[in-house]
Amino acid sequence: MLTPKARGALSATVLEAMRTGSGEVAPSVTPESDEDAALALWALYELHYRGFEDVDDAMEWHPGLLTVRHRLEADLEQRLRGRWTPREPGPTTAAAVGEELLAFVEGHDGPSIARYVQTTAEAEQVLDLLRWRSVYHLKEADPTAWVVPRLDTVPKAALMELQFDEYGDGDPRRLHQHLWVRGMEAVGLRAEYGAYVDEAPVEVLEQNNAMSLFGLHRRWRGAALGHLAAFEATSSMPSRRMAQGLDRLGLSPTMIEYYTEHVEADAVHEQLAARAICGALVEAEPALRDDVLFGAFTCLDLEDRFAAQVLERWGAAA
Ligand SMILES: [Fe+2]
Ligand SMILES: [Fe+2]
Repeated sequence: MLTPKARGALSATVLEAMRTGSGEVAPSVTPESDEDAALALWALYELHYRGFEDVDDAMEWHPGLLTVRHRLEADLEQRLRGRWTPREPGPTTAAAVGEELLAFVEGHDGPSIARYVQTTAEAEQVLDLLRWRSVYHLKEADPTAWVVPRLDTVPKAALMELQFDEYGDGDPRRLHQHLWVRGMEAVGLRAEYGAYVDEAPVEVLEQNNAMSLFGLHRRWRGAALGHLAAFEATSSMPSRRMAQGLDRLGLSPTMIEYYTEHVEADAVHEQLAARAICGALVEAEPALRDDVLFGAFTCLDLEDRFAAQVLERWGAAA
């Protein structure tokens, strides 16, 4: 992947500093907009995943780039934390935490893109959605992989059980990222990593940035796993709706397969993530209870923002 198009003065400066190898971004260069900030941070994070063909791999740890990343992360973190109301202390046994988390997600009611796709969306709208979703699905499960070495025995084993599924149970053809690639090709879209970043709305960049923020910082391990639990617990039913919508529009069965795979897999993953992973984590580290809930809330909140924007763009009532 080549570096994406800049979306303002800060992202232009950051991308230039990456490409030239200078790595230096003057503190006086500030974001022009949320989109400018989100794209700059997305690109900085990408250095830790697969990087860019036009950027030297050594830039991943350039102190100048880490400094600007730190600034952007502080802003993002403040914004995300500002939307969350910390919870009163509660029970921290694995069973209680699992129940609380699933009830928290169950009790959340936000706008649903999948419901609209199931019944009403047109093919062009769905193809736009697939382009935007591809920013994440082409690296599906990768942000959570950063968390593995930071966990103790029980949550680590449970997280690896879930990740093993996401990565295809040892079969590259079953890797979820690869199921997505095959689906994209089958519907005539580009499938190479990062293909549609330039088209991604700011809400998509923020969803991806939040996962990277939580994944890359050990202190946010609770939020990373809470986010995972909410993500998995809001996937099975919407995946069924997506599959039905794609079928209604006559889109390729190969793309539908990605979603049908997630109907079953994520019904299992939500239990694993809430009970075995988050439950065990909080039982071992009770101080992380609020972070787990904050991570779950952030997942739901950022998806709500994306869904509201998409449905408005499509002229659909949220
Ligand atoms: Fe998956
Ligand atoms: Fe999953």
